[in-house]
Amino acid sequence: MLKYLNFIGATALILAAPSAYAGGKHGLGRSALPEEIAAWDGDVSPNGKGLPAGSGDALVGEEIFADKCASCHGDFAEGIDNWPKLAGGIDTLDHDDPLKTVGSYWPYLSTTFDYVKRSMPFGNAGTLTDDETYALVAYILYSNDMIEDDFVLSKETFSDVAMRNADGFIIDDRAETEYAKWTGEPCMQNCKDDVKVTMRAMVLDVTPSETGIDTPAAAEETSQEEAPAAVEVLDAELVEKGKKIFKKCKSCHQIGAKAKNKTGPILTGIIGSPAGVVDGFKYSKSMKAAAEGGLVWTEEQIAAFLAKPKAYLKGTKMSFAGLKKEQDQLAIIEYLKSVE
Ligand code: HEC
Ligand code: HEC
Repeated sequence: MLKYLNFIGATALILAAPSAYAGGKHGLGRSALPEEIAAWDGDVSPNGKGLPAGSGDALVGEEIFADKCASCHGDFAEGIDNWPKLAGGIDTLDHDDPLKTVGSYWPYLSTTFDYVKRSMPFGNAGTLTDDETYALVAYILYSNDMIEDDFVLSKETFSDVAMRNADGFIIDDRAETEYAKWTGEPCMQNCKDDVKVTMRAMVLDVTPSETGIDTPAAAEETSQEEAPAAVEVLDAELVEKGKKIFKKCKSCHQIGAKAKNKTGPILTGIIGSPAGVVDGFKYSKSMKAAAEGGLVWTEEQIAAFLAKPKAYLKGTKMSFAGLKKEQDQLAIIEYLKSVE
């Protein structure tokens, strides 16, 4: 107990020493000194407010960078091993694995200045002068082809730099514009007078397509037993995309009411049709064999064929490299369905 009291006493003593500043509800601590605030208060706003005096260009920056940054970020800001790349990645933001750098991603130059000054070099933060920081930021910009090497970065020229992704961010205003719509009683029945199908589950690939209707008898049977097929509603955007992709097929295939056989057979109504039955077209032996084996061009089969024609059907006459992307396959199928 005595020990405890002693400890409290010692603490009180230390805190009491700068008593001139003691304040607040608990009489602890002191107000920060203006110099201390100034040392912390280095934030820079997007419009450049808060930038210090000073300047630097890429040539000066290059030397400092080689000395203090390149061991992690590489001589050309290209990044070493897994250390961050500070340059490149232009036009990769919509890729599966985008490369986000000051050049490709950062919307504000102020963040670059602030970040470098405040936290780099990693492990030795807070050691850069303002001039060094300007020069280093200039070098990062130069490495991203955003300025020339004689551009002097300073408070005055700061807003002359255009950031590539400046318009890539939006203010999240959902709290005002949307949240209200999400509250309230949810409707659980008869919520709409008329319902429109905008997308078919088959396109999303969650429903297996009908197969096995290869004889007229079987077709009759199923049509009697099953409810009438749902009316197909095509996805207009996908059709449009497919139409563009069809340019790859056009050199050999025609489609539509007036289509003729060319190097490849007419493709009008091909989806759901048995393979190898277009009148007057001379199919390869292997296509004939597949047709005799009962091949039907369901969406699945046609997608698999188009993905890699020669692998799907050895010996096919169709000399086409293939549509690798699943989205492209879906689009072309949607287009093939749309033409009558
Ligand atoms: C010891 C390795 C190291 C050194 C040296 C170093 N950095 Fe970094 N740098 C990092 C790491 C790690 C990060 C990522 C930190 C994080 O995400 O929290 C980073 C991030 C950055 C970023 C942000 C990258 C991004 O797009 O997110 C910039 C800009 C940057 N450093 C500039 C510099 C500059 C300029 C110097 C030299 C003054 C420097 N760095 C020195 C390791 C280093
Ligand atoms: C270089 C010419 C060429 C190109 C390009 C081409 N095809 Fe073909 N296609 C053929 C030939 C030839 C056949 C007949 C194959 C056989 O008999 O083995 C064929 C057959 C087909 C068949 C089977 C038709 C049937 O009656 O059984 C489909 C479906 C088809 N192609 C779709 C496409 C689509 C879709 C594209 C574009 C993405 C395309 N093809 C691009 C030449 C081509």
